[in-house]
Order: sequence, then C-alpha cells, then structure tokens
Amino acid sequence: MADSRSAKAVSDALQQRFGEEFAVDENLSGLSELAAMASRKVHRRYLDKDIDPALLRTLCAVALSAPSKSDLQQCDVLIVRDPAKRKIIAGWLPDQPWVEKAPAFLVILANGRRLPEIAKMRGKPFPNDHLDQFFNAAVDSGIVLATFLRAADAVGLGTCPISVLRDHSAKVSDLLKLPQRVFPVCGLCVGWPAEKGYISARLGLPSTVHEDTYDEGDLAQRIDEYDRRRHAIFPYRNPRDPARWGEAAFYGWSEDKARQYGVPQRPDFGGFVRGKGFKLD
Ligand SMILES: Cc1cc2nc3c(=O)[nH]c(=O)nc-3n(C[C@H](O)[C@H](O)[C@H](O)COP(=O)(O)O)c2cc1C
Repeated sequence: MADSRSAKAVSDALQQRFGEEFAVDENLSGLSELAAMASRKVHRRYLDKDIDPALLRTLCAVALSAPSKSDLQQCDVLIVRDPAKRKIIAGWLPDQPWVEKAPAFLVILANGRRLPEIAKMRGKPFPNDHLDQFFNAAVDSGIVLATFLRAADAVGLGTCPISVLRDHSAKVSDLLKLPQRVFPVCGLCVGWPAEKGYISARLGLPSTVHEDTYDEGDLAQRIDEYDRRRHAIFPYRNPRDPARWGEAAFYGWSEDKARQYGVPQRPDFGGFVRGKGFKLD
C-alpha cells in the first residue's frame, strides 16, 4: 500500500541532511523504517528515567545479531552497572557530562582474543596474527555499534557513542578487567531523550557516493559549499580553541575539523593496542 507520508518524511530528512532533492517511491515497503533511519540523530541529554535491564539486554542481543565477518563474532558489549565504576569513568571525561548522567552506559569491545584461543583449544596454528585481525574486530564492533543505535532508536531511546573513552584506554582496560586482545572501541550513553535533537547536515552525495571510479571533483569547492550549507542551518556556537588558532573569517565544519585534528589525539593508542597483544603489521 502506498505510504506517501513516510515517503515524504524520508525525502524531507534526506533533503535536510544532504541539501538535495530525493525522489522517494511511495510504493516501496519499509518506508517508515527508512524515515526513522534517515532522520536519526545523536542524543546527549536524557530524562531522569531508568531503562529496564531486560530491555537493555534485548537491545544488546539485537545489536549482536548484526552481520559478522566470516561469522567470527569479534565484538562484545560490556554494560557498566556499578555506579562507582561509572563515576570513575565520568571523572576521566569531565567535558562529556552525559557520560555521568546517562541512565545506562555501555562499552563496545573489539574481541580479538577468542579466535587465537580457539586455535589453541583446537590445536591449530594461528598464522593470521597481523593487522587484519585487529581490523576485522574493529569493523565488526562498528557494525554492532550502529545496530545498537538503530535498535535503541526504534524503541524511543537516545544514544551517544563516546570515542573519547579511548583517551583513557589503559585505565578503562584495567577498570573493566579487559584481557589481552580485547580493547574498548567506544563507550555508549543510552537514555530516554530529553530533547528532540536535530538532523545534522552531511557532505553532499557528490563527495561521498562515487560511480565506477573515485571522483572528488573540486574538493575545495565542495567542502566550501558544504560548510556554507551547514552554517546556514546550524552554525557552530563556539569556535574551537581561539586562543591557539585565532579568529577565522568564516567558521565552518572544515575549520572546526582542521582545528580538532590539528592537535595530537590518542598518539598512544597504537602502543596500547600493541601492548594488548595485537600485531599491527
Ligand atoms: C564512533 C563514534 C564516536 C563518537 N564519539 C563521541 C564522543 O566521544 N563524544 C560525543 O559527545 N559524541 C560522540 N559521537 C557522536 C558524534 O559527535 C555525532 O554522531 C556527530 O556529531 C554527528 O551527529 P549525528 O549523529 O546527530 O548525525 C561519536 C559518534 C560515533 C559514531
């Protein structure tokens, strides 16, 4: 049956996000799900309302139903229930107050441990101990993360992944007793949203969807167009570190990202991962 309302919701959300018109066939099935996915957004403020542990467990199971490379199942989810542990983690991330306030906090773990352990159990060699092992576990974890976000969204929960948790990988690892070859990919705040949130603008599809060959066009011009489209909807309120970088004539996404990555971020992460037993060659 035609669903013109959902078709419009999909095209409106994508228009807002990508700045171009999308013709969405109202006879497609699953349009309401597409509309929810197209209009998803991060949530950092939550109502003071608990999440039923059974629901959280169900969401973990749905997330772990995600596809897994070669069915290797190299992602785990750790639910941080102990308030004392939560307090310690939140204390490491004072500029992320949602970590302390979220009704639930999870850690997405890449698990490169089970596979070599299984090799030992089954008396087999493990000649694949190289970068691919780390990469596969990280990719599986990203897919589980995305699936959790979608599942949470579907039941009305809001989420915010927390990659800055990795600024403290070694401490997190000790606190949560992560064994060798298990590392935190990110934290994850979960709660009932206190605000509607907004659809964030993304780079235009000419920059990110290629046909037949990679083609970035005039990159500088495309970035500038995106910066200005985005600025017209949601300008940055606070330029990043003006004391260090000075005043920008125009402060858009590219200026913000250049500033963000103009200072070292987690330069010790490679060392941490190697120390956890991964071979990265
Ligand atoms: C892997 C990952 C890590 C993230 N880490 C953080 C974080 O440490 N702190 C935070 O506030 N938001 C974090 N975010 C949320 C992003 O900032 C957010 O998704 C982005 O600004 C785009 O907004 P949108 O999700 O509403 O489209 C993370 C998102 C992802 C996917």
